[in-house]
Amino acid sequence: MTIITLANHKGGVGKTTTVMVLASIWTNQTDVAIIDFDPNKPLIEFYNNMELKPASLHVYEYIEELSDKTPQEFIIDIEKRHSLVICDTQGAASHINLIISCISDLVIMPATFSKLEIDQIMESKKLIEQAEQLIGKTINTKILISRSKTLASKANMQIIDNINELELNLFKTQLQDRAAYATMFYKSKLLCQLDFNDCSAGALSKAHDEAQCFAMEVANEIGGLA
Ligand SMILES: Nc1ncnc2c1ncn2[C@@H]1O[C@H](COP(=O)(O)OP(=O)(O)OP(=O)(O)O)[C@@H](O)[C@H]1O
Ligand SMILES: [Mg+2]
Repeated sequence: MTIITLANHKGGVGKTTTVMVLASIWTNQTDVAIIDFDPNKPLIEFYNNMELKPASLHVYEYIEELSDKTPQEFIIDIEKRHSLVICDTQGAASHINLIISCISDLVIMPATFSKLEIDQIMESKKLIEQAEQLIGKTINTKILISRSKTLASKANMQIIDNINELELNLFKTQLQDRAAYATMFYKSKLLCQLDFNDCSAGALSKAHDEAQCFAMEVANEIGGLA
């Protein structure tokens, strides 16, 4: 039973996309439950529009005002039925995000190059540190560089140096800016369901390889998939 949360109080950095990327790889291997904590419900909309819903994919929504459960009760209830739970959160510094982070085995914090400033990462990290102080334990947090253009660019190298200097955990794999990832949203399909009518064969294969590398890194971080 593992809980992974995508969190960054900045909007549009790729949290929801990262959930879809992980689900694309893992629904072929295991049972995956996704909880959409974002009031805009992007994953519920995605799931409702999906023509082919994999039997191993389960998508839930949590609406605080309508639920008789606290966020942690809601997650724990779902965790009893599914070995892997991935939580997508709103791009805001909310109390719900703080609670979810506290009970997660891994918090993935995507950050984009256009918005990726060290100050912003430090701000998000500070929120996690506040949560750590509250619960008296470390929350495993790792930064994912997402929507990057070219891996070898000067800006890219500089940011990685800065992150390393600050001794922040960073995934080796970056989710580059790829049409295949954006197409998942438009077509309401997981990466593994896209075909050559949706995206070119080369682009699809590169995105799939990258997603696989990233999912492997995440699996290692949580001690493997159940
Ligand atoms: N690696 C990527 N390559 C191409 N497009 C991407 C990538 N990651 C995200 N996008 C696009 O960027 C937009 C924002 O991404 P996404 O919704 O995943 O961010 P978010 O952090 O969940 O945003 P919010 O805070 O609003 O929930 C979407 O249109 C998505 O298709
Ligand atoms: Mg989102």
